[in-house]
Amino acid sequence: MSTVTPPLSVRTATGELDDAEALRIRNDFPILDQEVNGFPLVYLDSGATSQNPLSVLEAEQEFYEQRNAAVHRGAHELAVHATDAFESARATVAAFVGAREEEIVWTANATAGLNLLAYSFSNASTGLVSAESQQFAVGPGDEILTTEMEHHANLVPWQELCRRTGATLRYIPVDDDGALRMDEAHRLIGPRTRVLAFTHTSNVLGNINPVTELVSLARAVGAFVVLDACQSVPHLSVNFASLDVDFAVFSGHKMLGPTGIGALYGKQHLLDALPPFLTGGSMITKVTMESSLYMPAPQRFEAGTQAVSQAVALAAAVNYLSETGMDRIAAREAQLGQRLAQGIDAIDGVRLLGPAAGSERTGLAAFDVEGVHAHDVGQYLDSKGIAVRVGHHCAQPLHRRLGLTASTRASSYLYNTTAEIDSFLEALAQVRPYFGLTAVEGK
Ligand code: ALA
Repeated sequence: MSTVTPPLSVRTATGELDDAEALRIRNDFPILDQEVNGFPLVYLDSGATSQNPLSVLEAEQEFYEQRNAAVHRGAHELAVHATDAFESARATVAAFVGAREEEIVWTANATAGLNLLAYSFSNASTGLVSAESQQFAVGPGDEILTTEMEHHANLVPWQELCRRTGATLRYIPVDDDGALRMDEAHRLIGPRTRVLAFTHTSNVLGNINPVTELVSLARAVGAFVVLDACQSVPHLSVNFASLDVDFAVFSGHKMLGPTGIGALYGKQHLLDALPPFLTGGSMITKVTMESSLYMPAPQRFEAGTQAVSQAVALAAAVNYLSETGMDRIAAREAQLGQRLAQGIDAIDGVRLLGPAAGSERTGLAAFDVEGVHAHDVGQYLDSKGIAVRVGHHCAQPLHRRLGLTASTRASSYLYNTTAEIDSFLEALAQVRPYFGLTAVEGK
């Protein structure tokens, strides 16, 4: 069986991840080596979706060329190889986030993981489940607590759970800089709180929430903690066991992997007690015409044919990130995030969102250009070959709180260089003059 070619870049895995290494890393990402609108592509939209190194592309191709078969079903040789690859991918991804293999459920993405959870909670709320599943039941008088900074994936499924069960949704507000109001968190978390669901790092603000403090507040009242880690697992060293969260979700396509694969993490005893969401083949132990018995986690949540090649490719992405070093990636992105924040903050008529320049943030920065709609900002930047995200970034309530309907976001990753950040800042400085707007007084 052939093996996937190793990454082209030469990693030191020690010392600072600097521009020289970022340039070597870029050699692994063929898509980055192109011109857009006559300019070298500057890809600053990894918060929406990241790019794939050759080792990830080849892992998926190699799976289809050499091992493709249904997993957990066949007795033939190919099926054994496919099952081995699938389960070994689970082990790789589990180790990456400080979990046991049984604690990682494959899902299509973070959104699917959060919907799985919310629907499993409402299945538990029917009263038609085992005694151990009833711990997840919610109903009138119970509260689901989330935050005002969530993207819709960690908000709408909980709204729907409340609609189905009669529970009440509450949210921790943010201040003018977008920071969580922890005084309000202390006030809102109480004996009625059954679930506390919050994002580890905001996809708009780039701030890092105080997970330890929030977990201890939830523990004090016996609430389940759900962590939306889809903007943290790709960029920080994250260990779910150390964070002591009950459940967490993340998406493969934001961490150098393919689309269509992500994971739900859950503590094993909780996943084993949680009622399933999707039912059907591969998740049962016994089926009669009247009823069925279910497998333990993770299989009880993996009905039907799974995204096997994508799981294998996600493991290749995790290997790539691990070889580069998550602490080094986080430190690099913190620098790029500061460069973005400070540069944006210095431009007339541009309002930086989230933590002030100089304060802790991840490698992204969103902003509002006074007098220019975010879509126009995005189009202008695109005309210079610069890819950013525009709109509400699936976080309408947060934008409303900040007095905006839309913003523009530049989000970096391990393959971005400081020269790219500077090209972006130079282009951004030209946006208001291009639209005939003058400097704003006092900035
Ligand atoms: N995936 C969405 C983003 O770009 C939420 O941040």
